[in-house]
Amino acid sequence: MGKMITIHSYKGGTGKSQLSVNLATVYALRDKKVALLDLDFRAPTLHEVFKPKNLKCFMNNILDGRSSIDECLVDCSSKIGKENKLYVGFADFSTEAIKEMVSRGRKWEIEALKRLLNSRKKLLNEMEFDYIIADTSPGIAYLSINAAVAADLVILVTTLDESDISGTIKMIEELYDIFETKTLIAINKAIGKRDVLNKIKEMYGEKIIEVLPCSCEIVEMSRSSILVLEKPDHPITKIIERIAEKIS
Ligand SMILES: Nc1ncnc2c1ncn2[C@@H]1O[C@H](COP(=O)(O)OP(=O)(O)OP(=O)(O)O)[C@@H](O)[C@H]1O
Ligand SMILES: [Mg+2]
Repeated sequence: MGKMITIHSYKGGTGKSQLSVNLATVYALRDKKVALLDLDFRAPTLHEVFKPKNLKCFMNNILDGRSSIDECLVDCSSKIGKENKLYVGFADFSTEAIKEMVSRGRKWEIEALKRLLNSRKKLLNEMEFDYIIADTSPGIAYLSINAAVAADLVILVTTLDESDISGTIKMIEELYDIFETKTLIAINKAIGKRDVLNKIKEMYGEKIIEVLPCSCEIVEMSRSSILVLEKPDHPITKIIERIAEKIS
């Protein structure tokens, strides 16, 4: 039976999308069947990586109950030199869609959670996906919380910025401990700040899955390139492979 892994963070720009794409690629390269879902409806990203053409529908339509997940997934396996392994569900990146998604009411949110859970069931039970990897919006956005509730495992990506660390701790204590969803922490763009790193290690040592260093080579790379594919020997590629193994 497959599993759903949601990648979330307190602050923006911590490296969620980067980790989601690379983790999905690592599994797909190992012949696992992966559904990578863009559930960041505020700032969709995955279309910039995979550059899909003629999209029939988006994840937005699934949460609206207007489409089903099997119709909306796009086979992007050729991007990584594979066949039938890496499928992507894109979020609608039009301004109208983004505005619409952030102004939904509570009733819709509850329906959207049911639809997400149904999609999860369909992907894992009927379509035999090995992994669902969900990229989300930062912070306590209800759609990200839905993605966390639906997941078997959440990876919270944080930098060593003090406000990022304290927000991440607050989210764990006030949200994740209550859901009882298994939660791990990936520290990304780590550079210096030994005191901050030691503090979080003392508090959550067992939850920290890996510490990924800051890398200017990553900053330099274009959005459409995938680190683990283009730089298989890069130290961060090795760390992402280790994360993939630990949570497999
Ligand atoms: N280890 C790293 N070292 C240096 N730069 C990194 C590292 N990881 C990610 N980045 C860069 O940081 C930027 C933000 O990464 P990414 O878009 O993955 O973050 P995000 O958490 O998805 O952001 P958002 O909250 O806006 O969705 C990107 O330019 C990315 O290349
Ligand atoms: Mg992102």
